[in-house]
Amino acid sequence: MDFSSVILRQPTAEDGASVHQLITRTPELDSNSCYCNLLQCSHFSETSIIAKRDEETLGFISGYIKPQSPETLFVWQVAVSAKARGNGLGVKMLQNLLEREENVSVTHIETTITESNDASWALFNSLAGRFGAPIKHSIMFDRATHFHGEHDSELLARIGPLSR
Ligand SMILES: CC(C)(COP(=O)(O)OP(=O)(O)OC[C@H]1O[C@@H](n2cnc3c(N)ncnc32)[C@H](O)[C@@H]1OP(=O)(O)O)[C@@H](O)C(=O)NCCC(=O)NCCS
Repeated sequence: MDFSSVILRQPTAEDGASVHQLITRTPELDSNSCYCNLLQCSHFSETSIIAKRDEETLGFISGYIKPQSPETLFVWQVAVSAKARGNGLGVKMLQNLLEREENVSVTHIETTITESNDASWALFNSLAGRFGAPIKHSIMFDRATHFHGEHDSELLARIGPLSR
């Protein structure tokens, strides 16, 4: 896939509906309301990123600065459209997010991943390697305790400190 015409930028509220469609088409991810994606694209735009080619939304990352830990960027969801996967777009979006002036004080990244999501583990392991950072794992939301058996446990991956 040729990425020369792919633009990475902060999302705006006008992107919310297309982000909602991308997330809805990604069965690995919990689908949220369109309203939630609109908030991510507006209130959380500095810590979120969209990949566009012409009018098409190829990728999206939602994130926020953890309220209790201002040096930590929490990555909520990462989605790359099925046809664009395996070409480095996921890692490129994460790197671009960290290079933003607004995020210069971020020293750690956190995310949660289910044990079976190999692509997501590979993505965040690759990111940790690129920033020369260790990655620590623990259970954040447990299948029985937090999801009442309805969802696999979400394991917290904490990456950092990042070498910039
Ligand atoms: C996870 C996801 C975002 C990765 O996006 P991507 O653009 O394909 O990832 P990249 O091409 O940047 O690859 C990053 C690294 O992961 C590896 N990787 C990507 N897909 C992989 C897979 N299915 N299995 C194993 N490794 C994989 C790549 O080889 C690369 O490793 P490297 O940098 O050491 O060479 C994409 O697969 C996706 O949208 N999946 C569905 C949604 C999801 O599960 N999101 C994550 C949870 S929030």
